Amino acid sequence: MTRAERKLDHIKHALSTGQSRATWLDDIRFVHQALPNSSWDSVSLQTQIGELVFGSPIFINAMTGGGGAKTTELNSQLARISREMNIPMAVGSQMAAIKNSEEIQSYATVRKENPNGMIIANLGSEATVDQAKRAVDMLEANAIQIHLNVIQELTMPEGDRDFQGALSRIEQLVNELTVPVIVKETGFGISREAAIKLMEMNVAAIDVGGFGGTNFAAIENERRQRKLTYFNDWGIPTAASLIETTTINSTIPLIASGGIQHALDIVKCLSIGASAVGLAGVILKTLVDDGELATIEEIKQINEDLTMLMVSLGANSIQELQQSPLIISGDLHHYLSQRGID
Ligand code: FNR
Repeated sequence: MTRAERKLDHIKHALSTGQSRATWLDDIRFVHQALPNSSWDSVSLQTQIGELVFGSPIFINAMTGGGGAKTTELNSQLARISREMNIPMAVGSQMAAIKNSEEIQSYATVRKENPNGMIIANLGSEATVDQAKRAVDMLEANAIQIHLNVIQELTMPEGDRDFQGALSRIEQLVNELTVPVIVKETGFGISREAAIKLMEMNVAAIDVGGFGGTNFAAIENERRQRKLTYFNDWGIPTAASLIETTTINSTIPLIASGGIQHALDIVKCLSIGASAVGLAGVILKTLVDDGELATIEEIKQINEDLTMLMVSLGANSIQELQQSPLIISGDLHHYLSQRGID
């Protein structure tokens, strides 16, 4: 199977295995405020990750790396959606394009469709400084994501088996690149222990990429003869990963992603400390099922719902949202108490 065929296989299985809703965000409940003293016109959705300013806290997370006509088309559609909605877009892994210049077209299209928007490059933690510079240049990217995907690699028959040295390579990237370096998981979450190490490297932001949405163990298992089913339920649910990383005493911004489906999920993530929220699987599904215009409408609706929820909570800004009282129950409560987080 070629790399392009594998990427198409990922899209097909991502759409069929879908989102499991095991993020534990449903274990979080807001306390209703009968006197919010708020108004629709006072709400600002603006947020910031270091020097990067976002008009809305949502962005399109990395998908569909590699070339091929189908992925090029998906990439241009995603780029036009990000332009129309003025939201950032991260591209899928650019390693294929770095190794084979014929695949660059798919990425060049992204910058062409969205010449002035915020575009984020993407490579795995095996990337060298030179490869990362080329990935950034390929897109004139405003930032780069470095993805951590140990479980996906292990479940892929042709995947990596050596994960040594990732942290020191990330440190080199932080020191040598001129754009912010964001480190992300791809659906298995970032633990407190991993986050502390990344924060010591001074990464620009950590995207927790938690469990509960697109599940790359399940996707790879669909493609395998001998299934590694023990990885299907592996990982830190997004709500748990976010809370355990927000309780670290650090000013490094956190991004929530992994199974984010609607505005209530987004508001919950922002209220527990995320500065921005990434959506991948739901955007892909809406795009493939309903098309580009419907996806733009869906994102407009999400922004409207975010404003609605902020008015109801009496929060004019993302910072004010972070003061909202919350009740945590169920598995999330149990997990946090065992991890020593009250
Ligand atoms: C991804 N994701 C991903 N992430 C990454 O850093 N580099 C990549 O190349 C890809 N490729 C990719 C392809 C497809 C088809 C999907 C659906 C996803 C992972 C993605 O950015 C995100 O971390 C996970 O999908 C979890 O978020 P959702 O999908 O639950 O919102």
